[in-house]
Amino acid sequence: MTTRTRTQAGELSATAARHLLLHMTPNGSLGPEGEDLLVVQRGEGPYVDDADGRRYIDGLSGLYCCQLGYSYGPEFAEAAERQLRELCYSPLWTGSAHPVAIELAERLSRIAPVDIEHTFFSSGGAEAVEAAWKMARRYHALRGEPGRTKAIARRGAYHGLTIGALSLTDDPGLTEPYGPPAIETRFVSNTNRLGLAPEFADDEVYTAWLLSELEAAILAEGPETIAMLIAEPVQNRGGCITPPLGYWQGLRALADRYGFLLVADEVITAFGRLGEWFGGDRYGARPDMVTVAKGITAGYAPLGATLVGTKVTEVINRPGAVLNHGYTFAGHPLSAAIALRNLEIMERDRILENVRALQDDLAHHMAALKDLPIVGDVRGTGFFYSCELVGDLDGGGFSDSARKELVADLIPRRLREAGLLARVYNRSAPLVQIAPALISDGAVLDRIAAILADTLAEASARL
Ligand SMILES: Cc1ncc(COP(=O)(O)O)c(C=O)c1O
Repeated sequence: MTTRTRTQAGELSATAARHLLLHMTPNGSLGPEGEDLLVVQRGEGPYVDDADGRRYIDGLSGLYCCQLGYSYGPEFAEAAERQLRELCYSPLWTGSAHPVAIELAERLSRIAPVDIEHTFFSSGGAEAVEAAWKMARRYHALRGEPGRTKAIARRGAYHGLTIGALSLTDDPGLTEPYGPPAIETRFVSNTNRLGLAPEFADDEVYTAWLLSELEAAILAEGPETIAMLIAEPVQNRGGCITPPLGYWQGLRALADRYGFLLVADEVITAFGRLGEWFGGDRYGARPDMVTVAKGITAGYAPLGATLVGTKVTEVINRPGAVLNHGYTFAGHPLSAAIALRNLEIMERDRILENVRALQDDLAHHMAALKDLPIVGDVRGTGFFYSCELVGDLDGGGFSDSARKELVADLIPRRLREAGLLARVYNRSAPLVQIAPALISDGAVLDRIAAILADTLAEASARL
């Protein structure tokens, strides 16, 4: 057996294989003779460098969170140091709070969707989703409807991997190993119209169809059993699936008609990803609760939050009603200080305006990819796009060999070689997805589009 000469990244990969369990990774396939990991060591602007000094455009903003890229460290370090010198920790628990969480909650209420005034902090997205679920249950129970025990979610959605949040996901690969779901959930269609009949190209027709399917599901389950519906303004997992016109207004109308709560999961879409503070603002969404995480701190610290509307707080805040849910590190002073500084920077440096100014150019570049034979659909908005890939089989599927050669190997390898980190999703419908840092300028976006075009052209030629 030959021994490989290891680079620094290689050495770190080998140590990782011995001691670190990666998330959503076949850890058992990593090892001294296995593939080297991507070991990201430092960042600058929209770029990251690996441990061997190789530079990439971070086309995924870490994991959809580094809205500001990587050069704001000194400003955040100053905010963090100030906070840690004053107060390292204090809980938001049993009648105790700290100023920076209070200030952040007040600040969020100023940008939140209409009728949302309160924030319940957590440490990340899945916790925010579970808090929304518990608050929905408390809301209904306090109103004398404890029988509202079910959720409605959309196929293909992802709301986190803790046992409660996982119940809202319909991917058997993720759910089945863990037994029956903690939350009884009914799944309805997402808003992906690829492959549907031509009449669904019309927004009015498609929205009407989606809402009537949803209403039928509500009636079949029994409206009095539904606690909440959760949906992302643009669904990430199936590939940046945007809603048709009127969809969010229709969800609001059905929630009001049948008495369940409407939750917008904005863990990815909030804080500028779609050019607005909240992605739902783009679609006229009027949710009762909003879950956020990721971009709230631009990735400089962990934090999640459930933003809660007055309709809900008027009930769950009734005198004597205890909100019996919480997390030790929710709204940690360090994270809250970083989130506040992030919001200040986003305003000062006109980050939403940058997305709004460049989104049409990006849309144009991405639409051009549709001409490539391997690209079946291009979806997205703001700084958030996916190409759904079609393969060599009739009907657009991939043969096992083409999937292996192109989706599992060539496309991710070429993107990496060309210096772009993007998501290549190799499940049911393969995707290539980008979510660049919101500080990216036109030249960075042009470069991302050019790398995607070259890579997908080469893959098309091999189909
Ligand atoms: C829409 C959505 N909700 C919830 C989550 C879970 O967030 P976290 O990984 O912080 O628990 C994610 C994570 O990607 C997400 O995309």
